[in-house]
Amino acid sequence: MRKQIVAGNWKLNPTPSNGVQLATDLMKLLNENPQPEGVGVAIAPPFTHLMEVAKVIDPKKICLAAQNCSFAESGAFTGEVAAPMLSDIGVMAVIIGHSERRSIFHEDHAILATKVDQVLKHGMRPIFCCGEVLQERNAGIQNQIVENQLKESVFHLEPGQFAKLIIAYEPVWAIGTGVVASKEQAQEIHRFIRSLIRARYGQQIADDTTILYGGSCKASNAAELFAQPDVDGGLIGGASLDAVEFHKIIHSF
Ligand code: 13P
Repeated sequence: MRKQIVAGNWKLNPTPSNGVQLATDLMKLLNENPQPEGVGVAIAPPFTHLMEVAKVIDPKKICLAAQNCSFAESGAFTGEVAAPMLSDIGVMAVIIGHSERRSIFHEDHAILATKVDQVLKHGMRPIFCCGEVLQERNAGIQNQIVENQLKESVFHLEPGQFAKLIIAYEPVWAIGTGVVASKEQAQEIHRFIRSLIRARYGQQIADDTTILYGGSCKASNAAELFAQPDVDGGLIGGASLDAVEFHKIIHSF
C-alpha cells in the first residue's frame, strides 16, 4: 500500500543557520512525538543548507530533499547543481516541476523530463509537481492541463522507474495565496491523476503511487484534505517554516 508523506518545501527561506535551527527543532519534536506509523517526513531546504541540515537530522525520521537539480550531469553549466552532487551528500528526493520553476524560470516539459531522468539515474526519488493556473481552473480545463504535464514529463518512464515517483498536485491559484482547494476539489483531481496512472501503468502502480496535495495547506486544514481517499499527504510551503506548525501537519492523518 502507498506511503503517506508530508514534505516541506522551504523555497528561498531561511538563512543557513536558521535553517539548521529549524531542522533541529523539527527533529526534537519528532523525537518527543514521532510521526504516525507509516507516515514519511521530508524537508527540502535550499542547496546551501543541505550538508549542514543533513548533520542534524536522523534519516530514518526525516528524508532530505532538494528543490531542484540540473538537467545536466556535469560540465560547463555555470550556476547549476547536478543530481550526482545531491545524491553524494545524502539527498534522497528532489522536487521537479514546481510551478515556480515552470513560470519564473521557464522550465518546459522537455527539460522537466530530463531532470526526472537525472534524479532517477542517481538513485533519488522525484517529487513531480503538476497543477493548473486560475484561468485554467475557471475554464474547467484543469484535468487536461495536469494530464498533459504528466504525459509530457513522466509518462515516458518505464514502470519500474515510475514506481519511484511521488506526485504532488499543486493548483497554482492555491500556492501562497491562503486559498486552499476544497477537499472535494482535491479529491476529484487526485482521483483523476490516479486514473491516468492506472491507464498508463496498471492498477498496482496506481494504488501504490503517493499523490500529495500542495497549496496553502496548514495545520487547520490538513486533516480534512488528508482524509480524502486519494490524497496521501501534503507538499507544504509557508507552513513548513514553523517547526511546531509543520509537526502538527505531520500529525494530521
Ligand atoms: P504554500 O504552502 O506556501 O502555499 O506553498 C505550497 C507549495 O508551493 C509547496 O511546494
